[in-house]
Amino acid sequence: MNDTQMDALFREAQKAAAFAYVPYSHFHVGAALLAEDGTIISGCNVENRSFGLTICAERTALVQAVARGKQSFTALAISTPDSPDPVGPCGACRQVLSEFMKSDAPVRFAGSGNSRVDTTMGELLPYDSLHDLQTQMG
Ligand code: THU
Repeated sequence: MNDTQMDALFREAQKAAAFAYVPYSHFHVGAALLAEDGTIISGCNVENRSFGLTICAERTALVQAVARGKQSFTALAISTPDSPDPVGPCGACRQVLSEFMKSDAPVRFAGSGNSRVDTTMGELLPYDSLHDLQTQMG
């Protein structure tokens, strides 16, 4: 994944953020996953008046992708246009994403400002049980 490819993935995340259903927080989030076959699947956050039922953009993208037959993702981009600073994925999303992404998969997140974070799944969720167990089991 080079910078140009990550820029393109991030633009898809930005587009998805525009569709967020956020009447309670007014905080739009868009996420875009790159599947192993090159397909990009994006998602936005979908809130609910029963707040705990809110689904984050990352999990919206992920479940949509799995429902379309994709189970392996090589990169993720997250856009939070209502924040000037980058906002990383929540703990629940890190766990769920780790089921389908390797620890070296690049992740970018950025808000509306100039700063961005380029990291990896493994940095976001170190000592991940699934991948650690797979390594131990050979
Ligand atoms: N949110 C996401 O969609 N992804 C994240 O990683 C952080 C939080 C959403 C949930 C809620 O709709 C809004 O952002 C404010 O927390």
